[in-house]
Amino acid sequence: MKDREQNLMRLAEEARKFSYCPYSGFAVGAALLGENGQIFTGCNIENAAYGPSNCAERTAVFKAVSEGITSFQAIAVIGGKKGEKGGFCPPCGVCRQVLGEFVDPDNFQVILGNEDSWKVYTLKELLPLGFGREDLEK
Ligand code: THU
Repeated sequence: MKDREQNLMRLAEEARKFSYCPYSGFAVGAALLGENGQIFTGCNIENAAYGPSNCAERTAVFKAVSEGITSFQAIAVIGGKKGEKGGFCPPCGVCRQVLGEFVDPDNFQVILGNEDSWKVYTLKELLPLGFGREDLEK
């Protein structure tokens, strides 16, 4: 299990190198593990109009879903000032909600830290009482 987490973290760090963040100067990378072992990476992509900017986590999710993969086991995230060593970077609320659409919150792992040291959370810990499709049935 340690290998899996370390590998995802390494891939997130690689993806972070592609971060397009001229406005915040904060570079983030993510690596998302699909149900059957496929891995999708992502970086944050900013925009001069600010609002259209996209986080690294959502870039990875949208890449995967747009290729037909809609169920996931884990995501590693690493962030920090561009040009400096990355580290602990908790996903924003919007990314937690987007992840929640496609995962089992009790089992999905969010791996935060760096390649040498990380902590693992479930999505449920990061997004308790999240709004989901079952709430639409009430
Ligand atoms: N960002 C991410 O990509 N993921 C996170 O988990 C937190 C924030 C991005 C958004 C923006 O481009 C920059 O980091 C500063 O907020």
